[in-house]
Amino acid sequence: MNRRNVLKLIASAAALDSARQMRAQDQAARAVRGLPVPKIRDIQVIATEPGGVRLTVVKILTDQDGLYGYGCGTFTQRADLVNAAVERYLKPFLVGKRADRIEDTWQACYNSSYWRNGPVLNNAISGVDQALWDIKGRQAGMPVYELAGGKCREAAACYGHASGPDIPRCIESARRYMSQGFRHVRVQMGVPGMASYGSGGAAAPHVPALHDDPVFDSAAQFRISLKLLEEARKQLGDEVELLHDMHERYTPNQAVQLVKAVEPLRPFFMEDPLSPEDIAYFRQIRQNCATPIAMGELFNSPHEWTPLITERLIDYIRIHVSQAGGFTPCRKIAAMAEIFGVRTAWHGPGDVSPIGHMANVTLDVVCYNFGVQEYSPFNERLQEVFHGCPVLKDGYLYPNDAPGWGIEVDEKAAAKYPYGFGERGDRAKYNGGWGVIRRPDGTVIKQ
Ligand code: CO
Repeated sequence: MNRRNVLKLIASAAALDSARQMRAQDQAARAVRGLPVPKIRDIQVIATEPGGVRLTVVKILTDQDGLYGYGCGTFTQRADLVNAAVERYLKPFLVGKRADRIEDTWQACYNSSYWRNGPVLNNAISGVDQALWDIKGRQAGMPVYELAGGKCREAAACYGHASGPDIPRCIESARRYMSQGFRHVRVQMGVPGMASYGSGGAAAPHVPALHDDPVFDSAAQFRISLKLLEEARKQLGDEVELLHDMHERYTPNQAVQLVKAVEPLRPFFMEDPLSPEDIAYFRQIRQNCATPIAMGELFNSPHEWTPLITERLIDYIRIHVSQAGGFTPCRKIAAMAEIFGVRTAWHGPGDVSPIGHMANVTLDVVCYNFGVQEYSPFNERLQEVFHGCPVLKDGYLYPNDAPGWGIEVDEKAAAKYPYGFGERGDRAKYNGGWGVIRRPDGTVIKQ
């Protein structure tokens, strides 16, 4: 082949290449319907407390008129720090960048602090991540569950939180949920006079203690919780799915004993039996019984959930989605869990904003290995601020089917409920943080 022919060949290959490139660009333009790529113009934090809990909602505005999105970054006990992480670090890092590359943006934010996997930074990233999914959905004119592949179930079965100051009233509360159509009920009762988790209104006899702070004794809680579950199964019948939250408050050995003791009562799951520091004890629980276990409310890091899932030491993973960094990482966690036969039960109480609840229920309807969803009602003020909250019917939660998360935030209404609104006691005093709880001898407990 002579030199001229070689040059000709190179020229025609270059022409082919550029034609191919133009075709690819054409296809990309059609994929986003010819819309120019949105760029991040501004990032704002909406700090509001309409439901008695400090919420962090991140709003990302793009350079395209009317194209914006909302994400949940709620870590209510340290909300001011999340908000500063968004405003002081992620905003300058992201303004001017493309709003259409969610995975890329997530990885860039995650790595830009060098030290990572902490609750403050993960929540800040979640706010951004979910706002970008909202923008993508609004741009496509589709709810996020469609972008994620579409529903594989119609709605998410939820559990309600039944509680009472004594066993009869707790069982009464459970019956009310069942009469509303709930097939899953979590039963909780505190120890009278103690700062127990998940039940209000207990009479407060004097609990002898060597200090004046709120008291908790895990042995007393153990006896009451076991009795409550026995009575609930006896009185509510075999069909209702009973759940119980151990709230990471027991010693490892107590946790093994309680989870084992309730096995004959066939709970749907026992929630968070061990504190994150003690997760190696899940092996002992597994060796002792087949009671279903849910874990993960306090998890922030892949180093926490990965061994529990891959060693099949739990049955349900129940991370607070924004604590893990948002919708993007939690989709991956769900996919990993599916392979190992672990189902999902995302954390869903009042310290998740309605945007976050939409992210939860979106995961619930698109992930095959959904287990159950924790439900907490949206009060009137929450619905005044957040238009389009997911809807509960007969114990099932339905996602909004408007584009993105389908939620509009009334920012004027949000401003009516600044942080501190309706707060009393320690939370008012400690800027939304919690106070201390001690054992009778004065030892601080893990809350
Ligand atoms: Co819990």
